[in-house]
Amino acid sequence: MSVSVAVAREASVELRDAINRLLPQLSSTAKPLGDDDLAKIISSPNTTLFVATLDGAIVGTLTLVLFDIPSGCRAWIEDVIVDVEARRAGVGAALTRAAIDAARDLGARTVDLTSRPSRTSANALYRKLGFVARDTNVYRLSL
Ligand SMILES: CC(C)(COP(=O)(O)OP(=O)(O)OC[C@H]1O[C@@H](n2cnc3c(N)ncnc32)[C@H](O)[C@@H]1OP(=O)(O)O)[C@@H](O)C(=O)NCCC(=O)NCCS
Repeated sequence: MSVSVAVAREASVELRDAINRLLPQLSSTAKPLGDDDLAKIISSPNTTLFVATLDGAIVGTLTLVLFDIPSGCRAWIEDVIVDVEARRAGVGAALTRAAIDAARDLGARTVDLTSRPSRTSANALYRKLGFVARDTNVYRLSL
C-alpha cells in the first residue's frame, strides 16, 4: 500500500463525493459539500485542501488555513479525516506532515489545531508529530 498526499487544485465530482464520504466520519452535523462549496475552498488564497490517496482511492483529507495577523503568519489545521477502512496505515500522519511542511514553506510561525480529548487517535497522532498542548481556553461563538 502506498500513500500519496497532494494539494487539491481543482474541484471535481470525484473529490466532492470523496469528501462527502469522509465528512460524516468527523462530524454528524456537517452538511455535505456542494460543487460551489468545494470550488470556493479550493480557490481561497488562504486555504489549502490536502487529499490522501491509497492505491488510487481518496482515503483522507486535511485542510490548512494560513492567515497574517500583527503577531505574524499563523496556520491552522482543520478537518483531518481518514476513512475508517484506511486507518493505522500512516495516512493521517502523511497528511499532517504535508500540512506542516506547507505551513513552514509559506512562512507560518506556528501551526495550531484543536482536538477534543475523546478523540484518542487524533490526540495520539498530533502528539507523535510534535504538537504540544497549550495552556489556554478555546472559545466558540456559534452564529
Ligand atoms: C485521527 C485520524 C485522522 C488518524 O488517522 P490514521 O491514518 O489512522 O493515523 P496514522 O495511521 O497516520 O497514525 C499515526 C500515528 O497516530 C497515532 N494513532 C493513530 N490512531 C491511533 C489509535 N487508534 N490509537 C493510538 N494511537 C493512534 C499513532 O501514534 C500512530 O502511529 P503508529 O501507527 O506508528 O503507532 C483518524 O483516526 C480519523 O480520521 N479519525 C476520525 C476523525 C478525527 O478524529 N479527526 C481528527 C479531528 S481533530
